[in-house]
Amino acid sequence: MKVLLIGSGGREHALAWKLAQSPRLSKLYATPGNPGIAAHAELVDIEPHNIVGFAREENIGLVVIGPEQPLVEGLADRLREQGILVFGPSAAAAQLEGSKGFTKDLCRRANIPTADYARFSDAVSAKAALPRFGLPVVIKADGLAAGKGVVIPTTAEEAEAAIDDMFGGGFGGAGAEVVIEEFMTGEEASFFALTDGTTIVPFGSAQDHKRVGDGDTGPNTGGMGAYSPASILTPALERQVMDEIIAPTVATMAAEGVPYSGVLYAGLMLTAEGPKLIEYNCRFGDPETQVLMARFDGDLVTLLADVAEARLAEVAHPELADRVALTVVMAANGYPGTPAKGGAIGGIAQAEQNGARVFQAGTALADGVLVAAGGRVLAVTATGNSVAQAQQAAYAAVDRIDFPTGFCRHDIGWREVERESARVA
Ligand code: AMP
Ligand code: GLY
Repeated sequence: MKVLLIGSGGREHALAWKLAQSPRLSKLYATPGNPGIAAHAELVDIEPHNIVGFAREENIGLVVIGPEQPLVEGLADRLREQGILVFGPSAAAAQLEGSKGFTKDLCRRANIPTADYARFSDAVSAKAALPRFGLPVVIKADGLAAGKGVVIPTTAEEAEAAIDDMFGGGFGGAGAEVVIEEFMTGEEASFFALTDGTTIVPFGSAQDHKRVGDGDTGPNTGGMGAYSPASILTPALERQVMDEIIAPTVATMAAEGVPYSGVLYAGLMLTAEGPKLIEYNCRFGDPETQVLMARFDGDLVTLLADVAEARLAEVAHPELADRVALTVVMAANGYPGTPAKGGAIGGIAQAEQNGARVFQAGTALADGVLVAAGGRVLAVTATGNSVAQAQQAAYAAVDRIDFPTGFCRHDIGWREVERESARVA
């Protein structure tokens, strides 16, 4: 089967690496891809509006869409209209990520545990509702904002300023509508499930580190590292998440004529009252995919095609290995502000000598030299029998990378390492 992968990040490099190992694969294409993905796929330069035509001409058997933007814009629909198999939800179903208000309303209808909320389309009524939510309060731009559309003010003045900023266009079109939410406390974890619209199979858990600095300090990023599994999501909690959050979501979407097909990535808050949904993403996480794929020994082409063909009820459910995977993101200096571009990167082969994998994200080739070309540049990924082992192996690999204009956090996995040593003691 010929497969076309859409995207260019570390997530897509991890997917490409796994797709390329499938005995079902005859040829892997990626667009736009990156130099890391090029080791597993033929990179093709296709304008987004020509993707459907390319897939038809090349007789692509499965298109795998990595990022949320093309999903929300309806790429999966346009491919399906032409009879092409695609892994990823329709635009209507991708609203689970594309509109926070859509998801909150769905939670209300389906009785799914989540923070109390209200939706607003003007600043005056949004501000008038603030007292009801107390402080801190959570204010979100409704639409896609590249992970930046959430502010958590601790004073009424900051909250009003945030509302003005969103309605004033501070988050572009994403802020035409605003959701105000009750602030939940607890530890966050991510849970992944594959669904073909009817059948649902769990596909692992992870935790990431969103802050740029050691000790979870500094501004938010797309994620500076992650590990899987998240032991805090015990098997009992996972069942509760499946029963109370994922299953009613999939059932309600189907019942309302918007069946969801693809991966459902649930951001959870583990509160004193039980797990609650923070948000959904309609695609795999980045860098969570890097750790999930490092635990998946199965045939990814077959699995994603089974999802796309709605065959999950008929096939054996995927399993992730018991080993722990941990990934450390190396970012370009300046990230998450303006990252330094063009810095040379060396040592990848040395870093991979002991079994670690270096997934590339914001990289490019300049005169044959690998250089930084984005904020998050590499995701250095290793596995072990414990988090401590995986962490040690990942940082040993990081030490072999020569990337003078980059940096990383030095404590990825700290929570889990602490928990692990508490269990041993
Ligand atoms: P989101 O983009 O919706 O995942 O929000 C980004 C981050 O904001 C989450 O990972 C949480 O850390 C935080 N957050 C979002 N909603 C809430 C909430 N209702 N209560 C507490 N923290 C939240
Ligand atoms: N790591 C967070 C995300 O992929 O949205």
